[in-house]
Amino acid sequence: MTDLVVRRLLIDLEAPFARHWCNGDAFRTAFFNALSMSFPVGEQFFIDSVRNGHKALPDEEQRKYKSEVQGFVGQEATHRRIHALFNNHLEKQGLVNAWGPRALARQKMMQGVDVRHWLAITAANEHFTAIFAEWMLQNSDLLDGCESRLKTMWLWHSAEESEHKSTAFDLYRALNGDEKWRLRWFRRITIMFLADTLRQTIDNLRRDGTLWKWSTWKSGAAYFFGRRGLLRQSYRPWKEYLRKDFHPQQQHSDLSDRWLADNADAYNVVGS
Ligand SMILES: [Fe+2]
Ligand SMILES: [Fe+2]
Repeated sequence: MTDLVVRRLLIDLEAPFARHWCNGDAFRTAFFNALSMSFPVGEQFFIDSVRNGHKALPDEEQRKYKSEVQGFVGQEATHRRIHALFNNHLEKQGLVNAWGPRALARQKMMQGVDVRHWLAITAANEHFTAIFAEWMLQNSDLLDGCESRLKTMWLWHSAEESEHKSTAFDLYRALNGDEKWRLRWFRRITIMFLADTLRQTIDNLRRDGTLWKWSTWKSGAAYFFGRRGLLRQSYRPWKEYLRKDFHPQQQHSDLSDRWLADNADAYNVVGS
């Protein structure tokens, strides 16, 4: 069982931020903006999956997971709220979120489907988020020069993603989720996630007027494929999920603990 704490982030998201808030870098800003656009709809789906998966467990198992599920729901609900505030600014900047409505339309097709499918989709997405979070925390200096309250927002979200990375996976296993379907959904989600991210990033850049600039793609190539590049460093942990004996806790999360300890003044613990 994982002890999950809900934290209220103490940053001001009312004040607007610069168009290229990520250190003046058009590509990185557009990429982070794209991810943020997917969160309110995506994280609601994760909440519903975990809640309904929990309800489907026998009573004794339900008791075992109760507080972890509450923590998970509280964390994701807070992420949704904060990113919705962030996304409001993106809308004012003239960006259009096509990812959210597309994801919502896909989710509608999931109505009435066995909750284990929901959980397999959620666990796959949570693996993605967890490896991305770990990479962000490991390379947090790459966010130096970005607007500081936004740097805090991304690192706080990363730390909590790392903390709750096992919840959906464990519920899937507790409900005797099928191994074949776990991997099948993971492969599908990988393709969908990469395609959605790319599509939304390109659209953000196009509306920003920076899509055809050499500097944009030079930065993108370095960010993904450079020595400390996201895709280069994440390939191995991504692949781990395909192992039969994989469990999210096998991938370390001490950076998350350290960030939360070092930045305790950035948040209040809810209910304490
Ligand atoms: Fe989240
Ligand atoms: Fe999550």
